[in-house]
Amino acid sequence: MKKSILAFGFLILILSTKTNAQTGLIAHKAMVVSAREEASKIGVAIMKQGGNAFDAMIATELALAVAYPYAGNLGGGGFMVYRKANGEMGTLDYREKAPLAATKTMFLDKDGNVIKGKSTDTALAIGVPGTIAGIFAVHKKLGSLPMSEILKPVIALAEKGVVVTQKQEKQLKDYRNKVIKINGDKTLFAKNFKEKDTIKYPALATTLKRIAKNGSAEFYKGQTAKILVHYLQQKGAIITLKDLAQYEAKWRKPLVFAYKDLKIIAMPPPSSGGLCLAQIMTMIAPYDVAKMGHNSPDAIQVLVEAERRAYADRSYFLGDPDFVKIPIKALMTTEYAKSRMATFDFEKATLSKDVKEGTVKYNESTETTHYSIVDSFGNAVAATTTLNDAFGSKYYCDELGFFLNNEMDDFSAKPGEPNMFGLIGNEANSIAPSKRMLSSMTPTIVEKNGQLFMVVGSPGGSTIITSVLQTILNVYEYDLGMQAAVNAPRFHHQWLPDVITFEPNTFDAPTLKTLQSKGYHINEKTTPVIGKVDAILVLPNGTLEGGADSRGDDTAVGF
Ligand code: GLY
Repeated sequence: MKKSILAFGFLILILSTKTNAQTGLIAHKAMVVSAREEASKIGVAIMKQGGNAFDAMIATELALAVAYPYAGNLGGGGFMVYRKANGEMGTLDYREKAPLAATKTMFLDKDGNVIKGKSTDTALAIGVPGTIAGIFAVHKKLGSLPMSEILKPVIALAEKGVVVTQKQEKQLKDYRNKVIKINGDKTLFAKNFKEKDTIKYPALATTLKRIAKNGSAEFYKGQTAKILVHYLQQKGAIITLKDLAQYEAKWRKPLVFAYKDLKIIAMPPPSSGGLCLAQIMTMIAPYDVAKMGHNSPDAIQVLVEAERRAYADRSYFLGDPDFVKIPIKALMTTEYAKSRMATFDFEKATLSKDVKEGTVKYNESTETTHYSIVDSFGNAVAATTTLNDAFGSKYYCDELGFFLNNEMDDFSAKPGEPNMFGLIGNEANSIAPSKRMLSSMTPTIVEKNGQLFMVVGSPGGSTIITSVLQTILNVYEYDLGMQAAVNAPRFHHQWLPDVITFEPNTFDAPTLKTLQSKGYHINEKTTPVIGKVDAILVLPNGTLEGGADSRGDDTAVGF
């Protein structure tokens, strides 16, 4: 008898340990989930002070620029999707823009071929930054605390410094030589920082103080603008004071669609994220993926075939809606989704070359960063922000204390040629002065029964869309909690290259074998991580569960 009680107790212990590892932080009122604990804490502190989710968005965005220079930024841009407690929703586009002097062929040689590295590793790769315009637009429309109060803890963090984590040590080491090559050996990140070192950012603190005092104009027209343009032009960039002065963030109508009884609120172009997500979810809706089983060969097939078709459309149709006409409504209809899936056969893979021609290679990385916020009033914010590549272009303005993006690579330098994510573009995403480059960032908010249900998003270039998709399905179709949904192994297909990428060693051999036998090409090697999701789920009792991706240093903080 004693023995069986002991065994039972042991079983309970094992089960509860397992459950705990799969259950995220639970908070009763408000939460921030972001790539760094320091940033999540600052966002939460602002809400504890009485600020709303939008004040917390501003604080978190800039705290990431301090604590996570890998992707957090002043020199990049992003997108925000919001849903207010009363159900009102909107999106903000603070994506970078091509400089006025940009040309369609700027990354091509005299024979019309793409010059390798020119759109990623040179000063011409830098787009006009949008982040500071973004946070001031949010503040003007939706903020509640004074900007100086919101920026106070961010400036304090920059002055006090940030402790290097184990993962960050590796990131800094991986890119150190590139940063030195561009900025010289006196630059801040020339130092060989190790885990537990503290990096202080006095120059960034000074820049932030000037912005707190003088507003957005400081960055786009003031002393900061002058220092920035001087630095950029010395390095061969084409961004001018006029480019900065003309930059504006844009409020855009959210892209809203239904998946079964969910209402999904997503980012419209110039992000491809919302539209691709809508197309994929509309294509898979007729299939009972829950019954097929989580990550089963059949379910993987359905998702992959929908992804293949949506990414092919992305390549052809999508670009900056201020420059090109995109048939958004037509691409989102059930009839169109049905016609796209008509060629799908469970017995064998559809080949991407039969969907559209092209052969490419691609690499993946976890640049870009996403954070999710819910406040105690019931407002929700999903925001994804980026420098494009890790530490952007690696151009670091020491006098101002931040990295510049290399977002120009998100344009299509030449129709049919892949960018660094292997994404193929077309005329719709060609370069033009003041145009915004197409993005995959997918900050998303989900409603169920008219109530806030989930706030979700991810970094990961082209894998952002499929990571967000799988996270939503993991919760809705497979009944996983938020943290378990984020933890679950992921896979990705993007039409070209015609290959399903799996997180290494997370899918069982029979599943992969079944897919191979049907003609699918499998890659378990080149991509260590597919997405790095930070999300919040509203549980049936109204509490919040955080999903902070342990593939990074991501942390949920709440109260
Ligand atoms: N730079 C990555 C994206 O916007 O998709």
